[in-house]
Amino acid sequence: MSETSKAPSESAVDQNVYKIFPNDLNSKYTVFGGLVMSLCDRTALIVAERHSGAPCVTAAVDSLHFVGPARAGDTLIIRAAANRSWRSSMEIGVHVAAENSYTGESRHVVSAYLTFVALSDDGTPQPVPPIAPETDAEKRRFKDAGQRRQQRIRDRKHKSK
Ligand SMILES: CC(C)(COP(=O)(O)OP(=O)(O)OC[C@H]1O[C@@H](n2cnc3c(N)ncnc32)[C@H](O)[C@@H]1OP(=O)(O)O)[C@@H](O)C(=O)NCCC(=O)NCCS
Repeated sequence: MSETSKAPSESAVDQNVYKIFPNDLNSKYTVFGGLVMSLCDRTALIVAERHSGAPCVTAAVDSLHFVGPARAGDTLIIRAAANRSWRSSMEIGVHVAAENSYTGESRHVVSAYLTFVALSDDGTPQPVPPIAPETDAEKRRFKDAGQRRQQRIRDRKHKSK
């Protein structure tokens, strides 16, 4: 394991794009939520694997809010970055916007926080590098991620009873 810390910008995905076609819609002609969840998970996974340099699994999705619908013809723009890491786990924040690519208008549709764990060759959790936040926004996310982890630990204890 490397003890050398890494900045969020070293692993961030800035613009993963996905064009919505009719087979991506639900019966109300907005985008099927499970598709967007999968895109969030896949994009966040890339961040976790870039940061840790190891295969990762999703341990938890402790928050995923659909704040507005995406529609046929929209382009989903998915951004993800590592907020904070601990021994073997990392919190990745994801933001999804729906862009009308004809007009350039963009709407926020999803925010999510996912926790990934890096695995060694034998499948056990392995240490990951610390995160060194640089910008004010990264420092705020780093601090807030600490509070969310406390809640996750409480939830995990509660669920395992
Ligand atoms: C995630 C997993 C590897 C953790 O293994 P484990 O034996 O519970 O390991 P530990 O108790 O030592 O925890 C390892 C890390 O995972 C974190 N973790 C485990 N479960 C968690 C949860 N539900 N939420 C958040 N973090 C979790 C722990 O906090 C710990 O983090 P740290 O090392 O940074 O302190 C294991 O539960 C697993 O394989 N789960 C299935 C993952 C999977 O298949 N995902 C895809 C689902 S389709």
